Amino acid sequence: MQNVRLVTAVGARPNFMKIAPFIRALRDYASSPSPALRFEHVLVHTGQHYDDAMSDTFFRTLGIPHPDINLGVGSGSHAEQVGRTMIAFEKVLVERQPQWVIVVGDVNATCACSITAKKQRLKVAHIEAGLRSFDLSMPEEINRIVTDRLSDLLFTPDAIADENLRREGVPAARIRNVGNIMIDTLDANRAAAAALSVEGLLPPKLIPEQNVLESVASPGGLAGGYAVLTLHRPANVDQRDVLTDLVRFFLDELCLELPLIWTLHPRTRARLESFGLWRDLLDCPSVILVEPLDYLEMLRLNMDAAIMLTDSGGLQEECCVLGTPCLTLRPQTERPVTLEQHGGVSRLVGNQINRIRAGFKDLYRQPRRPHRPPLWDGHTSGRIVSALAEVSSGTD
Ligand code: UD1
Repeated sequence: MQNVRLVTAVGARPNFMKIAPFIRALRDYASSPSPALRFEHVLVHTGQHYDDAMSDTFFRTLGIPHPDINLGVGSGSHAEQVGRTMIAFEKVLVERQPQWVIVVGDVNATCACSITAKKQRLKVAHIEAGLRSFDLSMPEEINRIVTDRLSDLLFTPDAIADENLRREGVPAARIRNVGNIMIDTLDANRAAAAALSVEGLLPPKLIPEQNVLESVASPGGLAGGYAVLTLHRPANVDQRDVLTDLVRFFLDELCLELPLIWTLHPRTRARLESFGLWRDLLDCPSVILVEPLDYLEMLRLNMDAAIMLTDSGGLQEECCVLGTPCLTLRPQTERPVTLEQHGGVSRLVGNQINRIRAGFKDLYRQPRRPHRPPLWDGHTSGRIVSALAEVSSGTD
């Protein structure tokens, strides 16, 4: 039987929920009645995210095998991360000689590994291709454009992504609309998340010293509803005036209506401390500050949230399928299919307080409105593995 060697590269938190179903689908393919070929798979972690909370916990919770290789690139400037990844990843490719390199999403690992692979004249497949924010000030947009330009197979989540690629001149034969692989992970973990209790999962994750315990610990303390907040984009957290205005809105307005659960990315926490905003947050009894959550915990919070406020792309998609009203704190999104005008639940409000306030008032009492774009059906990873098998065995 023909052997096809795949090297899969992941680096940062949003990659992990995309690779888990792909690896499971490879196993399913191997145990299917008559596989056309045998995939040999090597999983490489670049090490961009390295904390237990940002990385290892996702491997455990989502059943991702231990990476075969960890490049240990760690934190640093973008050039440092990309440069260190390329140097280390090239050695892996020279040694392993794969037929395909599989990259996911839009983080620095995605871009660094696709460039390295192409310079080794290897074939690249990109999962989550074709997303465009049309904003080159986002590092992720640069990563998406470079990766898609170099990829031989582009697995897209929706028809808008297909159209973006066609407009850039990508030949139709390379584009495969397979749906959204994040939703495979959501569907696979929904029952396990539902079994968690919100009040039970929060206490171990609370940031010490804050003045909230009573509201969280009291039975049904959050039964009246709660908002969930995540922020990590440099545009929202790196400038003192922007972050200060946001925090004032959360403290002085939003949390008078609803308790606010804020899951803190390491970058955001560091900025809150250095801008002198941390103490006020600790002192506010309706703001619940928590360490980064694992996948199931975040999914559980999302399932019952009255509203999500986020600058994360993945959460916009999860809110869409769960129906959680979502205020997207960005001026634009590379995931327009999640927006209200396309049938989703997400509204773009940027980081201007008047728009956030208006959006919040509009949305936080709205009923849930789950929406699944075509092919967001939990079976995306199977379609990707079938396409790779067809292309590799020449039957496509
Ligand atoms: C990266 C991705 C972004 C994704 C985000 C999710 C790029 C360009 N960006 O941004 O698309 O939405 O991950 O989290 O790849 N840190 C830790 N522990 C870790 C990792 C990072 O404390 O395990 C801290 C470090 O201080 C680091 C900072 O977080 O400097 C930022 O990490 P970095 O990997 O540079 O980018 P993210 O902002 O996480």
